Amino acid sequence: MNVRELRPQDNASWLRMRLALWPDSEPHEVDDFLAGRAREPLAVLVAEEGGSLLGFAELSIRNIAEGCTTGRVGYLEGWYVEPSARRRGIGRALVAAAEDWARAEGCSEFASDTEIDNEASAAAHAALGFEEVERIRCFRKVL
Ligand SMILES: CC(C)(COP(=O)(O)OP(=O)(O)OC[C@H]1O[C@@H](n2cnc3c(N)ncnc32)[C@H](O)[C@@H]1OP(=O)(O)O)[C@@H](O)C(=O)NCCC(=O)NCCS
Repeated sequence: MNVRELRPQDNASWLRMRLALWPDSEPHEVDDFLAGRAREPLAVLVAEEGGSLLGFAELSIRNIAEGCTTGRVGYLEGWYVEPSARRRGIGRALVAAAEDWARAEGCSEFASDTEIDNEASAAAHAALGFEEVERIRCFRKVL
């Protein structure tokens, strides 16, 4: 298994995994990123094994992140491993590569978030050395 940057020919696999993680995401976001039209993510890493993609990490740099003290924080916007490939270290390898990317971008902090009831994700974050810093609730109204 190796972790590398996304390539244009990965588009279908990345789209399939994105829709598994975010069912409401838009297919055009994949095309926009690959065409250089997307503001975010800044980078996408994928885990590949035997020619198949088994997971991805979407990355950005935020100037404000909960619990962080610097103004340039590497951020794990999306983190996904195929269900059949979980608990084999692929998620850990994606995050290690993501941290290397953030260091190369000049960041000294790396952050992430997950939904409040996603206990598996919280446990995986803790296992990878993340410290939980805040719990938030989000609101909206129609104007
Ligand atoms: C979170 C996710 C990416 C982890 O991927 P993974 O390949 O299974 O992770 P790894 O095998 O590298 O595990 C990394 C560490 O987290 C721990 N971990 C992973 N899944 C866990 C779980 N369900 N419960 C408890 N610990 C878990 C592992 O034990 C490991 O720690 P260790 O090396 O000390 O044993 C994967 O479970 C996933 O895609 N989940 C669905 C999407 C999601 O919730 N993404 C995160 C929110 S954006």
